[in-house]
Amino acid sequence: TAPAGLVVAVDGTSGSGKSSTSRGVADRLGLRYLDTGAMFRAMTWWMLERGVDVHDPAAVAARCGEPEIVSGTDPLGPTITVDGTDVEVAIRSDEVNAAVSPVSAVPEVRARLLALQRAVIAAETDRGGIVVEGRDIGSVVAPDAPVKVYLSADPAARAARRAAEQGGADVAATRASLLARDRIDSGRAAAPLVQADGAVHIDTTSATLEEVIGLVVSLVESAGTPQ
Ligand code: DC
Repeated sequence: TAPAGLVVAVDGTSGSGKSSTSRGVADRLGLRYLDTGAMFRAMTWWMLERGVDVHDPAAVAARCGEPEIVSGTDPLGPTITVDGTDVEVAIRSDEVNAAVSPVSAVPEVRARLLALQRAVIAAETDRGGIVVEGRDIGSVVAPDAPVKVYLSADPAARAARRAAEQGGADVAATRASLLARDRIDSGRAAAPLVQADGAVHIDTTSATLEEVIGLVVSLVESAGTPQ
C-alpha cells in the first residue's frame, strides 16, 4: 500500500504514456489523480472562446485570472470544468492542441495554475495521496515528491499512440503537431519540460502499459519502505 500523504510526480512529453500510466498507478494504489495538462488546455480553450490572441503573451497574461477552472481527481473518471461548463472533450481539439504550448509559456498563466495545482495536491495529500502528471511536476509543482518519474518514447511510437487515441487521426500530422509542442514546452523560459532531479527515467517505446504501471507501482512501494 502507498504511504499516506504521498505525491507521485509523472512528467514527460506528449504521447509518452503519462495519462494512462498515471491513472493506472492511481487506480492500483487507491490514490487520486490530477492531469495538469488538462488545466493548461482548459485555460487555452477559454482564451480561444473569448477571442484572445493566444500568440500575444501580454493579452493572455491580462485575462488569465478570469476563468474558474475546476479539476476532478477520480483516476477512473477525470473531469474538468471552466466556469461550470464541462470541457473534457473540447480541450482535446486540434485548435487547442495548436494553441496550448504558447499559452502555457506565459508566466502569469503558470503562476495562476500553479496555485490551483498546489491547492488540489494539499487537499488530496491530507486524504491519502495523489498522482500528478504534467511537464514540471517534479521540478516546480511538487519538487519534494518522494517518487518522480520521467516518461519518454520514440516520436514514431508517440505519434502512433496519439493518432489511435484520436480515433485513427493521420499519424504524420499527429507527429508534426506533437513535435512542435515538445519544442516549445522544452524550450520555454518558464518551467520547461525537464527530467527533474531524482526522477527515474522510463522509456516506454517498447513497453506495454501494464509493464510501465507495474514499474511505477514498485517504485512507490519501495519509496514507502525504509532502506
Ligand atoms: O499533457 P498534455 O499534452 O495534455 O499537455 C498539454 C500542454 O500543456 C503541453 O503541451 C504543455 C502544457 N503543460 C505545461 O506546460 N505544464 C504542465 N505541467 C502540463 C502541461
